[in-house]
Amino acid sequence: MITTTQVGIIGAGPAGLVLAHMLAARGIESLVLEVRDRSYVEHRVRAGVLEHPSVELLRDLGLAGRLDREGLAHRGIELAFEGRRHRLDFLELTGRSITVYGQQEIVKDLIAIRLAAGDPIVFEAAEVEPCAFDTPHPTIRYRHDGQDHELRCDLIAGCDGFHGVSRPAMPGWTSFEREYPFAWLGILADAAPTIDELIYTNHERGFALYSMRSPKITRMYLQVAADEAIENWSDDRIWSEFDIRLPTGDGFSFNSGPILEKAITPMRSFVASPMRSGRLVLAGDAAHIVPPTGAKGMNLAIADVFVLAGIIDRAYRTGRWEGLDRYTDTCLGRVWRAQHFSYWMTSMLHRLSDDPFQYQLQLSELALVTGNVSAARSLAENYVGLPFAPVP
Ligand code: FAD
Ligand code: DHB
Repeated sequence: MITTTQVGIIGAGPAGLVLAHMLAARGIESLVLEVRDRSYVEHRVRAGVLEHPSVELLRDLGLAGRLDREGLAHRGIELAFEGRRHRLDFLELTGRSITVYGQQEIVKDLIAIRLAAGDPIVFEAAEVEPCAFDTPHPTIRYRHDGQDHELRCDLIAGCDGFHGVSRPAMPGWTSFEREYPFAWLGILADAAPTIDELIYTNHERGFALYSMRSPKITRMYLQVAADEAIENWSDDRIWSEFDIRLPTGDGFSFNSGPILEKAITPMRSFVASPMRSGRLVLAGDAAHIVPPTGAKGMNLAIADVFVLAGIIDRAYRTGRWEGLDRYTDTCLGRVWRAQHFSYWMTSMLHRLSDDPFQYQLQLSELALVTGNVSAARSLAENYVGLPFAPVP
C-alpha cells in the first residue's frame, strides 16, 4: 500500500514525538512509524530530568498540562562526598530550575495528544527501511498487519534511537566514541522520597544517585561493573549497597520498599557526524549518546528536533531545503557541550580506579564546584540547560 505525507518520522521516542508535534503546530503533516507496541513505549523506564528549555518548549506547544500538574520542580541538586552533602541552588545561581518527570510519562502524554488530534502513529511497524533519500522524493518501506507499505515523503527523520535502522542506512558518517568500564544499575521503588532534591554521591565503593518520580516513587542508581549481570543483584543486595553508599553524617536517611523495576544500562559516549545524508536526517540517540550523569540524553534529543523543525518549516515556506546543510553543525555545537558536561560529571563522581591520586583530584574538583560560586554557576548553567541553538 502506498501512502503520502510531508515528513516520515521513524521512532516514537521523545525525539520523534516532539518533532511530530512541532511540525503539526506549523501545519506540517507527518507520520510516525514505531517498531514497538504502544504499551511497550509507554512503560519503558528511562530518563527523568527535564531541562528548563525542554519544559518551556513543551509548554509553548501546549503539551505540558500534566507535566505542570504532576512534574516535580527542583530548584537545585546535592553533591555528596566524604560523607557530607553540599547543595547547589540552581535558581539562585542561574534563575532557572529543572523538572523531574519520567520520560515514559512524556511519551504517554505526547502519544495521547497526537492520537486525540487524529494525527497518525503506526505502532508495530516491522522491517522499516529508509529508501531513496539521495533524491528529493524519499520513501520509507515497512510491513504492518501483514502488508507491505511504502510511505512517500519529502524528508525522513531518523528518530529511532541508538539501535535503530536510520544511522546504519546512512552512508559516509564517522563516529567519536568512548566506552566506560562501569554501568548504572537503576531501580524504581515503591518508597516515598525523603528529600525533594537529587543527591549525586561520590563514594569509595562507587557512585550512587538518589532520585525520584513522584511523592511515592523513588528512582535510584548504583555504579556497577560494566559486565555486571542483573541476576547477581537481589533486592536485598541492592538495598544493602545503597545503605553503604548513600548515608551522610548529617542524618540523611531514605526509605526502602518493593522494587518495581531494575535494569543495568551500559555507559558510553558516542557522536555520529554528519547527522544527515540527503533527505535522511538523524535526531536524538540515533545520532549521539551521552553517559547519563547529568541527565542530558532526552534533552539533547529535544534540542535536535527544535532545530530540525525550524529548518523544515523554513523549507516549506520558501521551497528551499538548503537549511539542511547547516543542521549537523548547528546541532553538534550543543551536543559536544553536553558530551563534555556528561563526561566531566561522570569522571568527577564515579570510582574510576584504585588510584588515590585520582580520588584526590575528584575531591579537589568537588570542593571547587561546591565552594566557589563561579564554578558552581558553570555546573548549574549546564545542568539546567543551555539555550537551544538558533535555527540556521
Ligand atoms: P529513543 O527514546 O530510544 O526512541 C527511539 C524510538 O525508536 C523507540 O521508541 C524505538 O522503539 C524506536 N525504534 C527503534 N528502531 C526502530 C525501527 N527500526 N523502526 C521504527 N522504530 C524504531 N537518559 C537520562 O538522561 N537519564 C537516564 O537515566 C537514562 N536512562 C536510560 C536507560 C536506557 C536503557 C537507555 C537506552 C537510555 C537512557 N537514557 C537516559 C537516555 C535517554 O532515555 C535517551 O537519550 C532518550 O530516550 C533519547 O530519545 P530518542 O527519542 O532519541 O530515542
Ligand atoms: C535521573 C537520571 C539521571 O541520569 C540523572 O543524572 C539524574 C536523574 C533520573 O532518572 O531520575
